[in-house]
Amino acid sequence: MTHCIALHSYKGGTGKTTIAANTAALLAEKGKKVALIDLDIYAPSLHNYFKITPNKWINDFLDNKSDVEETIIDMTKYIYNGKCLPSGKLYAGFSNPNREAIFKFEISNGSEYWKKQFRKLVFLREQIITKMDIDFIIIDTSPGIRHWSINALSIADKLILTMKMDDLDIEGTEKLLNEIYTTFVKFGAITYILLNRISGYCAPAPLINSPDTKTNSAYTYFKQVDNNTPEMQNPQKVLGGLREVTGIKYLTPLPCYCDIQFSTREFLTVVNNPNHPFSKNLQLIINEIIKQ
Ligand SMILES: Nc1ncnc2c1ncn2[C@@H]1O[C@H](COP(=O)(O)OP(=O)(O)O)[C@@H](O)[C@H]1O
Ligand SMILES: [Mg+2]
Repeated sequence: MTHCIALHSYKGGTGKTTIAANTAALLAEKGKKVALIDLDIYAPSLHNYFKITPNKWINDFLDNKSDVEETIIDMTKYIYNGKCLPSGKLYAGFSNPNREAIFKFEISNGSEYWKKQFRKLVFLREQIITKMDIDFIIIDTSPGIRHWSINALSIADKLILTMKMDDLDIEGTEKLLNEIYTTFVKFGAITYILLNRISGYCAPAPLINSPDTKTNSAYTYFKQVDNNTPEMQNPQKVLGGLREVTGIKYLTPLPCYCDIQFSTREFLTVVNNPNHPFSKNLQLIINEIIKQ
């Protein structure tokens, strides 16, 4: 069976692309055939992170100008260049960042053309499953409540909503959950919340005086945070509140790793730095998602 996991958020910059790409690489290293799809149609970035200009974009597939084999390309050797190849495969499909390509989606919202493109998106998923025999499809989406964010979510069976610990994001995420996710959950999609970039690695976690804070895993941090910690700095309170509203599941939070954040070259940490705590914690998170 193919699993289809989408990364989404209310705001941008919550780590969707980073987590999507690193998750795809970790699964490939576990021997899985993975297709990483950039459906952040309004602001694509995966091609930039991978430093590649593909011959065919996902937009071409949606416009009947390419087939699945030309659009979803095998990136395994490219990504693992000079490194030990994983036992699985890592394919990727990219969205066209050109202005005209993005405008086309904006203008066509709700029109016949838009409906045709949505049907093609469903067809893309089907082709990836039947022609490429993929184990995991990982989808990066556009933030917020826009047509193509919802389209992307609707073809996934597991949804990961990434968020940061700031009040706007918390408020927006709650709105997303109530207005959008309740429908997806009703139709059988499993929804997870992933708090990303919490304190505890670069900046000390609130109310933890342990001298070895930096080595604490996100999970330990999550457990140790005191009940009196202010609402916004306390993942337990944030997640608990959101869970009460919707009954969704939550994943072990990921700390903000300043060495990743401030390095322009750092992207596929799990490939370049498998012993980094980001890689280890993401592995824990993937295990939590796969077992459910
Ligand atoms: N856990 C983390 N620790 C440190 N930096 C992170 C973490 N997650 C994401 N980032 C950084 O945050 C920035 C935004 O991440 P990105 O994946 O592009 O977000 P999005 O796709 O949601 O807009 C990037 O510079 C990325 O390296
Ligand atoms: Mg992104």
